[in-house]
Amino acid sequence: MLDKHDRELEGFYHYCPAVAMIVTVSRGPEKDAMAAAWHSPISFDPPLYGVSVSPKRHTYQMIVDAKEFGVNFVPFEVAELVAQVGGCSGRDVDKFERFKIEEVNPLETSAPIIRDSYAAYECRLFASSTHGDHEWFVGEIVAAHADSSAFAGDGVIDVQKAVPALYLGMDRYLKIESSETIELDRRRLADLRR
Ligand SMILES: Cc1cc2nc3c(=O)[nH]c(=O)nc-3n(C[C@H](O)[C@H](O)[C@H](O)COP(=O)(O)O)c2cc1C
Repeated sequence: MLDKHDRELEGFYHYCPAVAMIVTVSRGPEKDAMAAAWHSPISFDPPLYGVSVSPKRHTYQMIVDAKEFGVNFVPFEVAELVAQVGGCSGRDVDKFERFKIEEVNPLETSAPIIRDSYAAYECRLFASSTHGDHEWFVGEIVAAHADSSAFAGDGVIDVQKAVPALYLGMDRYLKIESSETIELDRRRLADLRR
């Protein structure tokens, strides 16, 4: 129950746990990767995916220049890599070399695709707009990669095979210990005739 009411935002982690993923980009011979927890699917047709990137990030300018980026969903076992690429800048280090990030070939872009991901999108920059201190990059998904064993036939993730890296804020990550799921039939549950 809500019992604290403020006009000032204290911390900004109320929406967590949030899936922490890795945004990748390449510009000529240069590559970069950063952790991102602020991201979202936006549209089915065309398929659009958005990520909020601060102009302070090296990745920001690289996406502006490359006009494409990769979205890499990595499992909990790889959460350390999320912290590593989120803890230093591509201005100072080649993260792919330093953290020995292995890639698979992209299909439609030059965005690096991380081999250990359970799913990854190649995005071509579709739109970009500034909101406060972050840039909302909207990418059109032009290719998708998946670990097919991690998804059921209907496209839903099988959390027995792949557990997403969930971020809580302040460098804390949630380890999901149970793979128990429940199905809530929206039509039956919302049936107003009942
Ligand atoms: C879990 C986690 C989530 C993050 N989410 C974002 C995000 O959504 N947007 C952003 O601009 N920075 C985010 N960051 C910070 C960047 O990943 C970090 O500043 C990174 O070092 C930038 O690297 P770069 O300078 O090579 O681009 C996050 C960091 C962590 C650890």
